[in-house]
Amino acid sequence: MCGIIARIGEGDAITKLVSGLENLEYRGYDSAGVAVQNGSGISVYKRSGQVSELKDSLVSSVPKGNVGIGHTRWSTHGPPTDENAHPHTSQTDEVAVVHNGIIENYTELKEMLREKGHEFTSDTDTEVIPHLFEQYLEDAPDNVTAFRQTVRDLEGSYAVAALVDGEDAIYAARQGSPLILGLDNGEYYLASDVPAFLDHTEDVVYFEDGDMAILEPTGVTMTDMEGNRINRDVEHIDWDPEDAGKGGYDHYMLKEINTQPNALSNTIEGRVQDGEVNLEDFPPGTFDNVDDVHFVACGTSYHAALYGQQLLSNAGIRAQAFRASEYVDASPGPVSENTLVIAVTQSGETADTLGALRQAKTEGAQVITVTNVVGSTAARTADEALFIRAGPEIGVAATKTFSSQAVTLSLLSVRLAEDIDGASLPGDVDEMLETVYDLPKHVDQVLETTNARAIAEKYTDSESFFFIGRGLNNAVAKEGALKFKEITYEHAEGFASGELKHGPLALVTPDTPVFAVFSGDGDGKTMKNAEEAQARGAPIVAVASADHDVIDIADSHLEIPETHPVWAGLLANVQLQLVSYYAARLLDRPIDKPRNLAKSVTVE
Ligand code: G6P
Repeated sequence: MCGIIARIGEGDAITKLVSGLENLEYRGYDSAGVAVQNGSGISVYKRSGQVSELKDSLVSSVPKGNVGIGHTRWSTHGPPTDENAHPHTSQTDEVAVVHNGIIENYTELKEMLREKGHEFTSDTDTEVIPHLFEQYLEDAPDNVTAFRQTVRDLEGSYAVAALVDGEDAIYAARQGSPLILGLDNGEYYLASDVPAFLDHTEDVVYFEDGDMAILEPTGVTMTDMEGNRINRDVEHIDWDPEDAGKGGYDHYMLKEINTQPNALSNTIEGRVQDGEVNLEDFPPGTFDNVDDVHFVACGTSYHAALYGQQLLSNAGIRAQAFRASEYVDASPGPVSENTLVIAVTQSGETADTLGALRQAKTEGAQVITVTNVVGSTAARTADEALFIRAGPEIGVAATKTFSSQAVTLSLLSVRLAEDIDGASLPGDVDEMLETVYDLPKHVDQVLETTNARAIAEKYTDSESFFFIGRGLNNAVAKEGALKFKEITYEHAEGFASGELKHGPLALVTPDTPVFAVFSGDGDGKTMKNAEEAQARGAPIVAVASADHDVIDIADSHLEIPETHPVWAGLLANVQLQLVSYYAARLLDRPIDKPRNLAKSVTVE
């Protein structure tokens, strides 16, 4: 995990590298660094802490250079110290490298290099790369061959960018970690993600696994690991750079919560026509041969998958949502071409999810991904991709992408129910599809009228925070709790409401507010469960429509507009996102960059 950037072209590289790193910080923010070629050796500037600290330390005396590399780190090997920050350099400082991924055979490589006299100064796996490259430079006929020999020795996952002293060039390779080339009229960028260079260009080339490249002022040469020339298509990204900025909000998270009406409009647009679901590459009949559905996902995406699983189960389809990290080791039994595996992943780069996706594909299942990122590894590895079209999400805590994932999966569930033999569409499917276009408007209503800030003020001093819901709202409750703990650092748990009495009730006190989600589906039992908690002193915060019966007994109320239960759960989720946000604000937490977390986890 981590974010890398590289740049070559006319003019100074440092400013562009640092601003690129700022846009990659969602991938990790334990330490940051840059290296530039400046005619008198490679200069490296790196330190622990966020990119802003690196930026402050880069005073005007920094030598300039037109070619450079940069890195923002999420620690895997060794703590976030200055020494462990990237770029890493070789024995004689001839080579500097930034790397995202994990080198699995670094211990063996280190041992071999030590025997040849190399000394290491960090705890990282990455440091072997510059040393190995330098070792190969001694005997290889040219630098390209030495670089190729280097990456061929690496086992594990990597996106790598390297500089060799005295050469106006950047060496790059990808295996298992994202790497994208940006082309801007004689200026070339490499980065782990598009926002790193979106201010400069929207023309990109996605590296595939096994691709290598040399960037020079005159152009870019791409090859495979054997040195054979390859051509990859240039694609045009239509992301607005403004989307990747905070746009006047105090935090990305608040911006992303507030721009959900727009994100949802994009998600839904054209996908329900004349009361029928219309999903681009998934026309009626696509899933005729499906018997079973497995969802694989992590974190927030797993909660969206739970939403999908519930909808499919309601339609009589055998469906199960798996935590992707478990799917690989504890496979649910044989899959076949009649198994549909749906990898739900915002980034399309989560290693656990990609591992599950690849395993399912190898075993012969049909594999699709529901993702936000066109060109992501998941989108390119799955048989087909269904894009949620939420636009870039930067805040580590996922918000708008959960809503867009859940809507996309809800529409997909209708297509599956239509196609799969023996499945049945819900009786109120017409109403569900008619009201989907009201969802952005209803989210707007929630955003305009919410009392989430007051609720956060009332309860932030509590000891623990419980979230309960039944059926679809079980997924909402779990997501509400995850959001809360991620950004407030307070203890929060989400339960199926019926489970409260089977254990968690022992923890209930007047200091444990219970947020109970009511969407008009299975609500009676949730109300009973909420009352059981209330009888033990817990204050009940009901997330429900204005005329819901629970309002008479609830201690506090977060109101949601009346609509179809499938969409009402998502409106409740928006209220819970806002409560988490305001609670984290009151507690003065670094909302967009919670400690120890990262947006895209590319290690298993
Ligand atoms: C990380 C993030 C979570 C996210 C999860 C899955 O853990 O911190 O917010 O839900 O990865 O990410 P994905 O990109 O696969 O949806």
